[in-house]
Order: sequence, then structure tokens, then C-alpha cells
Amino acid sequence: MLMERLTILLLCFCALFALLKISNAADTLATNEAMRDGDTILSAGGMFELGFFSVGNSKNRYLGIWYKKVSNQTVVWIANRDAPLNGTSGMLQVSSDGILQLLSDGDTIWSSSLVSLRNIAPVAQLLDNGNLVVRDERSTDQRIFIWQSFDYPTDTLLPGMKLGKDLVTGIDRHFTSWKSTDDPSTGQYTAYMDTNGFPQIFVRQGNNLHSRSGPWNGLRFSGMPEWRVKATALKEFVFNEKEIYYRYKVANSSIISRLYMNPEGDLTRVNWVDSTQSWFHILTTVPVDSCSPYGLCGPYGTCNANNFPVCSCMGGFEPKHPEQWSVADWSGGCARRTPLNCGGGDGFRRISGVKFPDTRRSWYNSSMTLGECEMACRMNCSCTAYADLDIRNGGSGCLLWFDELMDVREYDETQNLYIRMAISELTGLTTLESGSNKKKHIILAVVLASVCLLLVGLCLAIYARSKKKRYYLNRQDSINEGRNEDAELPTFSLSKIAKSTSNFSFTNKLGEGGFGAVYKVTNNLK
Ligand SMILES: *[C@@H]1O[C@H](CO)[C@@H](O)[C@H](O)[C@H]1NC(C)=O
Ligand SMILES: *[C@@H]1O[C@H](CO)[C@@H](O)[C@H](O)[C@H]1NC(C)=O
Ligand SMILES: *[C@@H]1O[C@H](CO)[C@@H](O)[C@H](O)[C@H]1NC(C)=O
Ligand SMILES: *[C@@H]1O[C@H](CO)[C@@H](O)[C@H](O)[C@H]1NC(C)=O
Ligand SMILES: *[C@@H]1O[C@H](CO)[C@@H](O)[C@H](O)[C@H]1NC(C)=O
Repeated sequence: MLMERLTILLLCFCALFALLKISNAADTLATNEAMRDGDTILSAGGMFELGFFSVGNSKNRYLGIWYKKVSNQTVVWIANRDAPLNGTSGMLQVSSDGILQLLSDGDTIWSSSLVSLRNIAPVAQLLDNGNLVVRDERSTDQRIFIWQSFDYPTDTLLPGMKLGKDLVTGIDRHFTSWKSTDDPSTGQYTAYMDTNGFPQIFVRQGNNLHSRSGPWNGLRFSGMPEWRVKATALKEFVFNEKEIYYRYKVANSSIISRLYMNPEGDLTRVNWVDSTQSWFHILTTVPVDSCSPYGLCGPYGTCNANNFPVCSCMGGFEPKHPEQWSVADWSGGCARRTPLNCGGGDGFRRISGVKFPDTRRSWYNSSMTLGECEMACRMNCSCTAYADLDIRNGGSGCLLWFDELMDVREYDETQNLYIRMAISELTGLTTLESGSNKKKHIILAVVLASVCLLLVGLCLAIYARSKKKRYYLNRQDSINEGRNEDAELPTFSLSKIAKSTSNFSFTNKLGEGGFGAVYKVTNNLK
């Protein structure tokens, strides 16, 4: 009897212990626990690991996340990159008010947040996508996080991570390179979303602009044509009143992929290849060549890395400071050969195969058509160019530039850009080329109408001549059959013509020329 009771008690204990074990899985850290240097937390699918590490020969200790499955330790996130620990005394814990704390000998080295929450049951968890989160176990929606490492990237953008701004919370997710390959402290280069005008991704070096992605065109950034060729990941660009971000996803979550900024400021996407145990370079987002520095050729200049010199002026523009330009100082850029005459009506030159100019001083509307866009640009004298916002489905939306056109480079890019020019700069074929399809159609219609009028005029002239001739022949009372072929043209009385053109009504008038007016015949003439 006693034995039985004891067995039951033991079983109960075991069950309780198992339950505790489940609720306290290896991927979480509860408030009563601590993770010390040497301990690690493994994500549920075994993809990522959280722990303490050192880089190279340095004794500095960092708290970070790395790939479990990648043999060459690759760190994707660091908590204390600028506050390394000197020894192995580090300890991570979650406070009861929901704050992750990195402690060393009683001092707080790093903490996730300054905001303490009440009446919560916080738990930290390392998710299988590499996100370290703090969530409330009492919350009914476990997808709501009190804090997440994805909001504070280090130098790496993992699939699903957002680069950009949350306009509601004010969180600005950007990432910064390591100082060098063996020093993870904050380096010189930062990639961030600039939300002035139409949003773009910039890389800055300290306070200077280093490179620019170009605006998103629905499929890719206009400054990254390489993305068109290598569509290996699903890319997403979201901009609405709540948030503006870029992120990418991989087709299969078993693909190990990351986008990172190296200490030299290059944004590179790499995939891990198991068979070779190395990172395979997928693409460099902003191609690094002699044209990549922001604004190298100045306003209205355009860069082509295959040319020598690399900078030239856009059509209709010439170097603003020719002496400087000739010694390869292109920063002054180019000026218009013919000034604009807004009141007199300017035209637009269509160009394609370029990275779109800086959009920080632009305006956009995603529901306008290209025709409305042209009108909007025409009506504002400070508008310098316009274009479709989105190239999908034949193009839609409107993007207007209100500034000198900066940082344009030649690219294998199909999107059209319409640049405001003085009419006199748009000569010959260029005039036909400039403007929208609608304009082309109008020009075509005018040409056709002119040809028609000319033909009708010719007929009338022949008719008039023949009439004159007949009068002459009648008077001479001599008949020359051979020369009288012209007389085969039908003649109509004035009343008949008046009737058939509704009394020369305006609606029937086709046009007018030196020969007189031309009317459409509506009623039968016979
Ligand atoms: C491992 O990573 C380091 C630093 O990123 C790199 O220098 C080294 O070449 C890598 N080794 C292999 C085998 O990929
Ligand atoms: C680590 O050591 C350096 C120099 O010995 C000291 O300045 C620094 O405060 C120490 N950092 C910590 C976190 O103890
Ligand atoms: C993802 O890749 C793994 C390994 O290559 C494969 O076994 C799995 O079927 C793939 N899953 C999907 C949804 O394609
Ligand atoms: C965008 O354009 C549409 C259509 O022309 C217009 O109805 C709408 O008000 C515009 N939105 C803004 C913010 O100007
Ligand atoms: C032209 O556009 C600029 C920039 O959006 C704006 O500040 C200015 O008021 C506009 N001018 C006119 C006449 O609409």
C-alpha cells in the first residue's frame, strides 16, 4: 500500500518536472534564470544560438547571436558592441518588469530598454529566425513583443528583418558596420532608410553620404539593376502612413542568407553553402565602382563607370565650371544651356537607362497616371522632372522632383525619366521622343490630318483647274477628247453640296487651308 502511494507520488513528481521542463525549453530564459558566460540558448529549430563570444585574439567578451549550423562562427547580432566585458563574468537575465539585462559583477553593462512594465510575466526567447524577443507569457497574442533584437540590428539584416522606420513608435531600424573584421564596435558606415520625399536607402560614412539605393520602383531600387538579374530572394518595400521599410525573405527557411555591411561600407548579400562550408557571394547591393560615391558628377551630371572621364553632363546641359570640370573636379555639376521659360511652356526630354536622381526633395502620389503626372510637373515651375512611381503593370503613380537632379548614373534600367527642358532644346526626333504616349498620338494625328488636308486640297485644285479648262474649251467650241480626261471628275451644284454638308455646318467642317474650307459629306450627294 505504502509502496503504491510512493510510486504514484513519484510519477506525479516526474510529470510535474516534465511540465516544468517543457515550459522552460532551451530557447527561453525566464525571470528566475540567468545565462552565464559559457551557457547558450538555442532556438527551437536549432538555427541560431545566443551566448558570449570573443573575436580573434581579443579577450573582450560580447553577448550575441550566431548561426548554430555555420561552422565558421558568424555573428549576426551583438548586444554590447561598444561595451565589451573584460572577462567571463557576464550574465544575462530578464527582470520582472520586462527588461533584458547584461550584468557583470553587479554592474549593468547593457540593457534592452529603459521602460519598465508592471503586471507582466516576461520571458526572453530566441526565435528560429534569429530574433531575440521579450514577451509577456500572459498575453493572448504571442506575436506581440515587449522588445525584439530585430528592432536594433548590428551590421546584419536577416530575412524578415525590417530596415526602415516605424512611424507610430518612432523606431528607426538601421545597421552599422563593424569597425574592422576583428573589432565589432560601431564602425563608420550606416545603412538607413531616408524618409524625406520618396524613401530611399542611404549608406553614410560618419556624417557624409556614401551611397544611395535610388527609389524603389515596385520591383527593386532603381540604383540596383543587379537585383533584376538575380531574383533569388523575395523583396518587399512597404510605405504607408504607419511604416516605411525594406525587407527580404528567402523562398525556403532552410536557406541560410544574410545581408550585411562590411567595415568598408559595402552592402553584400551572401548565402551559406553547406557542401563547401563557406559563404557564397550573391550580390553587392550598391555596385562598388568609380560611380558609387554619392553625387560624384554634381547636379545634372551623369556618371558612367565605363567612360573616361566617368562624368558627363545630361543632354542640354554643360559644365557649370569648365576649368574645374576639365581637371576632374565634377562636384560643381552642370547648368542648362538654355534657361527654362516656365510661362512660355517647357517640354520634357525622355531618358531611360539611368539610376533615378536623389528623391529627398521629391513628391509622390501612387494613384496618379503618367499624363496627370506630366500636367502636375508642367504646372509647377520648380518641378524639374517626373516619372512613373511603379513600373509594374505598365506603370502607375507619379514621382516629381523639385530640385537639381543629383546622383544620376547610367545603368541598364528600363524605367523612363522625363526631364524638364526649354522647348528649343527639344529638337527634331527628340521632340517626338519627349512627352508621353498621349503627346505622340497627338503629333501623329496632326501629321495625318495635314496629309489628308493636303490631298483634299490637291483634289480641289485639280477640280478647279478642270472646271476652268472646261469653260475655256466650251468657249473655244472645240473638242479634244484626249485632253478632256480631267473632266471625268464629278461636279456638284452648290445646293447639293450645301445640303450634304448640313449647310456647311461647323460640325461637318474638317479643316481649312489656303484653298478654302473642307467639309465632311454626311448626306448622300447623288
Ligand atoms: C571564417 O571567417 C573569417 C572572418 O569572417 C574569415 O576571415 C575566414 O576566411 C573564414 N574562414 C572560412 C573557411 O570561410
Ligand atoms: C575593462 O578593462 C578596462 C581597462 O582595464 C577598463 O577601462 C574597463 O572599464 C573595463 N570594463 C569593464 C566592463 O569592466
Ligand atoms: C526546403 O529545403 C529543404 C532542404 O533543401 C527541403 O527538404 C524542403 O523540402 C524545402 N522546403 C520547401 C517548402 O521547399
Ligand atoms: C493623388 O492623386 C489622386 C488622383 O489624381 C487624387 O485623388 C489624390 O487626392 C492625390 N493624393 C494626394 C495626397 O495628393
Ligand atoms: C511647387 O512645388 C513646391 C514643392 O512641392 C511647392 O513648395 C510649391 O508651393 C509649388 N508651387 C506651386 C505654384 O504650386
